[in-house]
Amino acid sequence: MNYARFLTAVSAARKPSAIRLLTELQQRSPPSLISLAGGAPNPNTFPFQSATVRVKGGQDVVLDEALMKRALQYSGSYGIPELVSWMKDLQKSLHNPPTADYSPERGQMEMCVTTGSQEGLCKIFEMLVNPGDNVLLDAPTYSGTLAALQPLGCNIMNVPSDQHGMIPGDLRKVLARWDPTDAQKPDCTVPRVLYTIPNGGNPTGASMTYERKQEVYELARIYDMLIIEDDPYYFLQFEKPWAPTFLSMDVDGRVLRTDSFSKILSSGLRIGFVTGPKPLVDRVVLHIQASTMHTSTFTQIIVSQLLQNWGRAGFLTHIDGVIEFYRSQRNAMLSSADRWLRDVAEWHPPMAGMFLWIKLKDIKDTQRLIMERALEKEVLLVPGGVFNIISSDPCPYVRAAFSLSTPQQIDEAFRRLADLIKDAA
Ligand SMILES: Cc1ncc(COP(=O)(O)O)c(C=O)c1O
Repeated sequence: MNYARFLTAVSAARKPSAIRLLTELQQRSPPSLISLAGGAPNPNTFPFQSATVRVKGGQDVVLDEALMKRALQYSGSYGIPELVSWMKDLQKSLHNPPTADYSPERGQMEMCVTTGSQEGLCKIFEMLVNPGDNVLLDAPTYSGTLAALQPLGCNIMNVPSDQHGMIPGDLRKVLARWDPTDAQKPDCTVPRVLYTIPNGGNPTGASMTYERKQEVYELARIYDMLIIEDDPYYFLQFEKPWAPTFLSMDVDGRVLRTDSFSKILSSGLRIGFVTGPKPLVDRVVLHIQASTMHTSTFTQIIVSQLLQNWGRAGFLTHIDGVIEFYRSQRNAMLSSADRWLRDVAEWHPPMAGMFLWIKLKDIKDTQRLIMERALEKEVLLVPGGVFNIISSDPCPYVRAAFSLSTPQQIDEAFRRLADLIKDAA
């Protein structure tokens, strides 16, 4: 793949930071190395000494004095080596990416840690999206993606979708206006980037089937597009076996995947990952070098220690418990929806994630209903318009999260919502 053709002028102009390279070097050197090179502060002057983080039903995470000093210090921009290597092993075991054994130039699988997957996405867009570029996605979509993309001045093109995600036949129709051979020409307008949330989509709850992913991947090959697979709900899939990912079918090295620990370990620790072809992940790291420098060493060490203590089996057992919780929450929400909303709304049961996407039957736009009237009834949902490319377009949907409220609260919320809808009709 010719990765250079995908880079924005900003990204192409980014140069490795000499100081950051030294930090990476130092991170891999033996303790006997005497370095007068770095500009790092002396951690002996820091007020924190050690910490013990109690872990529910497991071994505590202990930061003794030496580890604490490391946790409080600058670290490499790819992420601390033990976390990156743990995650690489996990990615390989879950997705078996064809690129794992490629040469770097051919798009060998590489990874870096990001401050939540949001940082990864934002940097990926900054790397790939020029003003005026056509970018494909299936709206409604995550508002954080729209927030990162829209100010870049690109032209976001919607690909129709349903409860199984992006519809390949419609993608084919959207792409039909271009000749695939034009993709390699400079200044061509063929989209170079396709973004999608393949599991438990935010806000729709939609999950894409393997067959659809295969068709979309084939179209990406024909038009030489990169696929951004934003998959923070991957670990919240309710049914096993989990659907194969775009990363797992990426024979060309054209998939950039973002993972997140926000929904399974902690959203506040801000740990996410970018996985993709080395030439592009290396560029994401250049963007990181110039902004945050690296994700907090402290949080990386806590997470990494936890993962080392658990091992992969312990991690997956933890995930099973999280899934169990969200599955029962989803079921509670579905039965409350059935009880209160059957006559006034429609929905599809989500197979992953934490959202139910509800279409109100006789309401053209939920914006006013929610923003002006719902609070009076003491119930709050997200009006669907905020997830549209043009947020002022009328939208009959609302997004309900089943993550935080108890089944009793969910039931009462839907009773109030039903009242609200009947009053508005
Ligand atoms: C689809 C999607 N992508 C990315 C994110 C960002 O997650 P984080 O930055 O916490 O990893 C979210 C958060 O809700 C999301 O729903």
